[in-house]
Amino acid sequence: MADTLTIIDNRTGQQYDIPIEQGTIRAMDLRKIRASPDDFGLMTYDPAFQNTAACRSRITFIDGDKGILLYRGYPIEQLAEQSTFLETAYLILFDELPTKAQLDQWTLDITLHTMLHENIKKLMDGFQYDAHPMGIFLTTVGALSTIYSDAKRVHDEDGRRLQILRLIAKVPSIAAYAYRHSIGRPYIYPDNDLSFTGNFLNMLFKMTELKYQPNPVLERALDVLFILHADHEQNCSTSVMRGIGSSQADPYSALAGAAAALYGPLHGGANEAVLRMLKEIGTIANVPAFIKKVKGGSDRLMGFGHRVYKSYDPRARIIKQTADQVFEVTGRNPYLDIALELERIALEDEYFVSRRLYPNVDFYSGLIYQAMGFPVDMFPVLFAIPRTAGWLAQWDEMLRDPDQKIARPRQIYIGAGARDYVPRDKRG
Ligand code: CMC
Repeated sequence: MADTLTIIDNRTGQQYDIPIEQGTIRAMDLRKIRASPDDFGLMTYDPAFQNTAACRSRITFIDGDKGILLYRGYPIEQLAEQSTFLETAYLILFDELPTKAQLDQWTLDITLHTMLHENIKKLMDGFQYDAHPMGIFLTTVGALSTIYSDAKRVHDEDGRRLQILRLIAKVPSIAAYAYRHSIGRPYIYPDNDLSFTGNFLNMLFKMTELKYQPNPVLERALDVLFILHADHEQNCSTSVMRGIGSSQADPYSALAGAAAALYGPLHGGANEAVLRMLKEIGTIANVPAFIKKVKGGSDRLMGFGHRVYKSYDPRARIIKQTADQVFEVTGRNPYLDIALELERIALEDEYFVSRRLYPNVDFYSGLIYQAMGFPVDMFPVLFAIPRTAGWLAQWDEMLRDPDQKIARPRQIYIGAGARDYVPRDKRG
């Protein structure tokens, strides 16, 4: 017999057998639970979607209790050790690791799409000199929809693949232009001889030299960080990507919305917030006082805690190792000691232990980015570049899924009942 959940409605005494499939009941099955014929039917109330699966996905698996993260079944530790970002992006998007020929073609295709339309430079020139690069990034990504009007054909598989190529290839160029704009340096065109991250470093940091040579340790470290950030199933920004995409908007518009969601300090803006927090703490001696403030509820320990991970975030573990390799090249980030002391105290403290708060991916990533020479406000942009692969994979999966429709949550209305309009001169 199939698994069922039996619900007895105390109001009517009626019994309902609701099927359980893949550990879930269908919310629409609750609709048939009605006390009277004009009853709308039972709904669930789930603010922030803490216990609601909105899709079935084959892309990313997380076991938050055990600290496991798999992309298409492959453990994040193995991908970080042996794969590259472009190969991982292919895996996330197309379900399997590429053959050598597929990887070569994919790499070539991406490389050929890195240039931006010259009008994009003019658009970026219009931003204030001190505009936040994440604001420039999400605006510019959205503006690409005006250049690629063919992107509206979201049900055309070949068309979707073309937009996917364009977006993955162009986001590092947009990010680099945003950075160069913010420091008043000329934009640097892509160098097709370099790797994905090598070229990104070139577009960011090239000065007057004829050919930019990326440091191989930093190039690889950035690639590993990109692998770690490539997807993370149904988080806030991915849900936005799916939500906007469900109205059949083009992927540039949807991705601009996803990037806006990532910008917030509770999500991809956390790496920036961690660095600002470490700066504010200033010295190891101030750590206990800061922890006291956090426990008193007047501050948050940024880079700690996660909606899904209730043990150590596996990405944070890998990042800690990457940090050691980067610091050997760049020198040690002076804030590292404060971060280590915060982690040491927090992992022993009852407040954090009882709430199962551990370092997340953002706790150490900012320290690496800063040591590599990135200004703090570039950190969320560095998160958005690799997450573009995940957003697009989730968008593509959503469009193929016959269960999906335009996203449209319900509400519990708690406002005023129907009442008559009061003319302005009668309102006192
Ligand atoms: N510092 C102090 N207390 C915290 C923290 C924190 N970082 N995170 C959660 N808590 C407390 C919270 O106050 C609550 O305590 P109580 O039960 O006494 O009210 C309890 O832990 C549960 O917290 P919550 O806010 O209900 O948990 P959530 O699942 O809604 O929030 C989170 C998850 C990531 C938004 C949150 O942990 C947080 O704000 N962390 C800091 C920001 C951060 O590092 N974000 C990056 C997340 S990982 C990268 C990404 O996906 O973008």
